[in-house]
Amino acid sequence: MSTTGADFIVVANRLSVDLERLDDGTQRWKHSPGGLVTALEPFLRSRSGAWVGWPGLADQDVAPFEQGSLQLHPIALSSAEVRDYYEGFSNATLWPLYHDVVAPPVFERSWWESYVKVNRRFADACASIANKGATVWVQDYQLQLVPALLREQRPDLRIGFFLHIPFPPVELFMQLPWRTEIIRGLLGADLVGFHRPGGAQNFLWLARRLVGLEPSRGAVGVRTRPGVVQVGDRTVRVGAFPISIDAAGLDAIARGRQTQQRARQIRAELGNPKKIMLGVDRLDYTKGIDVRLRALHELLSEERIAAEDVVMVQLATPSRERIEHYQQMRSEIEQVVGRINGEFSRVGRPAVHYLHQSVDRRELCAFMSAADVMLVTPVRDGMNLVCKEYVACRYDLGGALVLSEFAGAASELTSAFLVNPHDLDGVKNAILAALTVDPAEGRRRMRALRRQVLTHDVDRWARSFLEALGTGPVH
Ligand code: ADP
Ligand code: F6P
Repeated sequence: MSTTGADFIVVANRLSVDLERLDDGTQRWKHSPGGLVTALEPFLRSRSGAWVGWPGLADQDVAPFEQGSLQLHPIALSSAEVRDYYEGFSNATLWPLYHDVVAPPVFERSWWESYVKVNRRFADACASIANKGATVWVQDYQLQLVPALLREQRPDLRIGFFLHIPFPPVELFMQLPWRTEIIRGLLGADLVGFHRPGGAQNFLWLARRLVGLEPSRGAVGVRTRPGVVQVGDRTVRVGAFPISIDAAGLDAIARGRQTQQRARQIRAELGNPKKIMLGVDRLDYTKGIDVRLRALHELLSEERIAAEDVVMVQLATPSRERIEHYQQMRSEIEQVVGRINGEFSRVGRPAVHYLHQSVDRRELCAFMSAADVMLVTPVRDGMNLVCKEYVACRYDLGGALVLSEFAGAASELTSAFLVNPHDLDGVKNAILAALTVDPAEGRRRMRALRRQVLTHDVDRWARSFLEALGTGPVH
């Protein structure tokens, strides 16, 4: 591949593709899990640039390679680094801390040391491939030190940072022993972006409190971009940029004859029930998969719905499987599924179809087209793309969305059946309301949801971020 540098670089913990080791010892690349790649991949597909990230397996030294017009630069992590930087500090310290401590975060000094070391490796890689004056867009909570580490080496670069998960309330962030280092790391960027204005405000407060910087409110001039801070002679902009999906792409797949045929086939395979309910998530304890299963169990037990009429499908991508909380949650969910099926299934007609696997994009669209009710019930989620994907697939204005108020998307998707996932009765009532919604009212809601999702797609998100960063769209 070419050894020339890049003018535009995305740096994320994972590459857009993930190396998978098969049982026969061979390896292959597959699509990486999670919303970050779903969002960025279509935006970058038609553009040239570089993507720096981990290939997903420990101890793998993979040479840079090209995918379309994108150069992929794999960063190797040792098994100890996967344990301490990725599973440890990123996913057992920061992940629960930033998601309202729904699980207790673990503060472990050796994990922090590994986080610093790996962040430095990512920063060094970017510094070595970036052309003079290039734009580097750093992604997510795994790489919060990269902006400052990169700026030390390459003050000529334009550096943006976007956080794909919630930024926590200040009282929770203040628990972190390395809180000042994280804020200083982020302040190395020219623009720090969050999903929601509240995240941006929390960050500005912390910059003042921990680093002694004064935010000047409203200097960017737009309501959703609350401010800037002065760091020496540099101005750091801070704002909210709600991420989205390739809505037109999904709409087109959903309209396809094959997708509609497959949707009918899925319905038939499920026994042509009156109603299909669907959940699609990484198997993560923040997603509230247990909440919707408990609601279903009670609705069936109270005979407010019947298993002959309503079937639930839960697609759950395996995720972070070596972390204790994930293992615990998986066994809890599988127990509840077993219990519901034990009590309410008939031979050949399970009440819940639980697939611990990932499906491809077309299959996902077919499931979403077949689903009468989509259940998105996280206890906390930065944005949640699944609910936007469902809306993008429903060109027929069919279907109903039950959406947690604690997903970032709730502030945009106000015509959904909004629920508090901590209020089980409220969730049950919302599920019933969605199952029995009058068709005209259902269409009215879906039309309003689609207006929002189709006009606020991922391209618009990326352009607005890059314009605020001062680079304009990248080609
Ligand atoms: P997160 O980034 O926390 O995983 P998001 O909802 O923002 O959550 O994004 C998840 C992405 O992963 C979506 O694009 C969704 O369609 C995809 N996804 C989740 N579970 C599955 C699955 N079982 N099969 C296929 N895609 C999935
Ligand atoms: O934005 C959420 C996110 O954590 C991404 O950063 C990440 O790539 C994705 O979900 C999937 O998680 P993981 O990379 O840990 O499998």
